[in-house]
Amino acid sequence: MILRTGLIAVSALGETSEPAQSMIHPAGPAAAEIARIWWVMLVAFTAVFALVLTLLIYAVLRRPPHKADAGRETNLPPWGRTWFIVAGGVVLPILVLTPLYIDSLSASGRLRTPKEGLTIRVVGHMWWWEVRYPDSGIITANEIHIPAGKAVRLELASADVIHSFWVPRLHGKRDMIPGRENVFWVQADEPGVYRGQCGEYCGTQHANMALEVIALAPEDYDAWLESQKSLRMAPTAPDTERGRQVFLTAGCKQCHAIAGTDAVGNAGPDLTNLGSRRMIGGALLPNTRGNLSGWIADPQGIKPGIKMPRTYLKAEDLQALVSYLESLK
Ligand code: CUA
Repeated sequence: MILRTGLIAVSALGETSEPAQSMIHPAGPAAAEIARIWWVMLVAFTAVFALVLTLLIYAVLRRPPHKADAGRETNLPPWGRTWFIVAGGVVLPILVLTPLYIDSLSASGRLRTPKEGLTIRVVGHMWWWEVRYPDSGIITANEIHIPAGKAVRLELASADVIHSFWVPRLHGKRDMIPGRENVFWVQADEPGVYRGQCGEYCGTQHANMALEVIALAPEDYDAWLESQKSLRMAPTAPDTERGRQVFLTAGCKQCHAIAGTDAVGNAGPDLTNLGSRRMIGGALLPNTRGNLSGWIADPQGIKPGIKMPRTYLKAEDLQALVSYLESLK
């Protein structure tokens, strides 16, 4: 079915046949409202379009005026022409557009961002998303964990150019503008993974600037929050010491931070919980050992134009580094 040809989400929370990124498959109240308006407009304007086409076909096929009436453009009497123009050009547009206008206005009232509640800060970078939980000090990237069934406020900012935050199954788009903060919100009714995509052209890798919103049942969300807090206290597994040394000496820490080490770079994503992430590279690749190794060895080959350079490492050092990064969960 045409409506089903969106991206299919294959999630750790179980395979789902729902498209991961389709605004006509809403998964929360804001997106449902937008989808509803979309369907209302589609039906209304399809009806208008059909009416106009019918009149057009009638005009093309109608019999030409009688010879006696040559020079007249229509068979209608003069008062009939005026009536036709007033009805079709004034009355009909008012009848069609007024209810749609009122409907859209009342919908925008229902889409207003809540004043309080869980707030997450999302900063757009070329081409990834920084995600911060100000209440709990958690910093992550390219995935936003939220509790299902709750409205979550988002503070949206940009570190460089204009991006646009867009998770089609949860809400519409909201721009991320340098030097300015926009507030926005999302709500997912059910636990699941909802893919998002930068909605504003922001350079060569705009198309590969994606993210995932992972909605968890409230108790799972609380557990996730606790696991993240304790991870920020003690992120290192003891058997990965060699990889840790490689990380700290090979230049990684110039750009990346890992809590509990002296790596505090902020040009690239915070890696404190990298091992727990589903995807790497701005939701470009699944977070597997092979992908992670390939990414570190040659990020420019995978996502040309990003800031991360090649890392020249001996094979054993690369493997140790990947083991260390995978242990961060
Ligand atoms: Cu960021 Cu397009």
